[in-house]
Amino acid sequence: MDEKRTRYSGIIPDASAACMRTSRRQTAEIAALIALFLGLTAFTVVGFIRNWMPPVASRHGVGVDGVIRYLFEATGPVLVIGALVFSWFLWRYGRGRPTGSPATNARLERWWSIVPVIGMMALTEVGVVVKGFPVWHEIYAPPPADAVAVEVTGQQFEWIVRYPGPDGTFGRVAPEFVSRENPAGLDSADPAAKDDIVLRNQIHVPVGRAVNLRLRGRDVLHSFSVPAFRVKQDVVPGILGKTLFVATVPGRYEIACTQVCGMGHYRMHGAVYVDAPADFESWLQHQTGWLAK
Ligand code: CUA
Repeated sequence: MDEKRTRYSGIIPDASAACMRTSRRQTAEIAALIALFLGLTAFTVVGFIRNWMPPVASRHGVGVDGVIRYLFEATGPVLVIGALVFSWFLWRYGRGRPTGSPATNARLERWWSIVPVIGMMALTEVGVVVKGFPVWHEIYAPPPADAVAVEVTGQQFEWIVRYPGPDGTFGRVAPEFVSRENPAGLDSADPAAKDDIVLRNQIHVPVGRAVNLRLRGRDVLHSFSVPAFRVKQDVVPGILGKTLFVATVPGRYEIACTQVCGMGHYRMHGAVYVDAPADFESWLQHQTGWLAK
């Protein structure tokens, strides 16, 4: 059945035959490990090469994409080279019995640990800080004076959208006023609340103008996300969140909740309508205060 064994059986003692079986098994194990490792690397690279995001439609979104692309281009080659080198070492030195006195060199080991760690930090962290800070500033700097103020409240499982109305001031809201008829919980005793515009699952914004979003949460954690704008901001009950974007392309864009928030998480979505400035103004003129309805 096994030609090699019959051929060698006369010269090699039984112990060596057993040893050969072990080494063949070891080779198979190392080969499987290398295949798994290179397979995962290839899977990662192929997954990242494809652009999964919708075309960018906001000003800061270009910068967000730039940071992601930088990280991919800077760390991708390191991953591939690292995987190849690691596989080669596995193949070259991973088989056979360990020798009694490994030739270690503490000094070399230290440098081969410290230098790559510092190198990776420089490559990723410094890159992200240099490329990412301007984008961060675009999103979290104080909004320009002409920004459109919009409030979004996340609750299971919808987005309640509120505009301050002609007076430019958000009226008082309180949990005790929240009802089916008054989803925002507007306080009818507050004059500033009278003209507040309330919508469900839709936001209207003008193209090219900053939108200053404030975010509230009513029950559990949600996350407000508009993939086309590269906007994603956690919605935390008790904390007034904020984010800012400037839409650059007119159209309709999906709002998604990107934090698992319950059985209805999948249906917690809406739309942002980006209109020409004149169309937005005319839409706004036609809205009436929720309490006046
Ligand atoms: Cu809200 Cu998921």
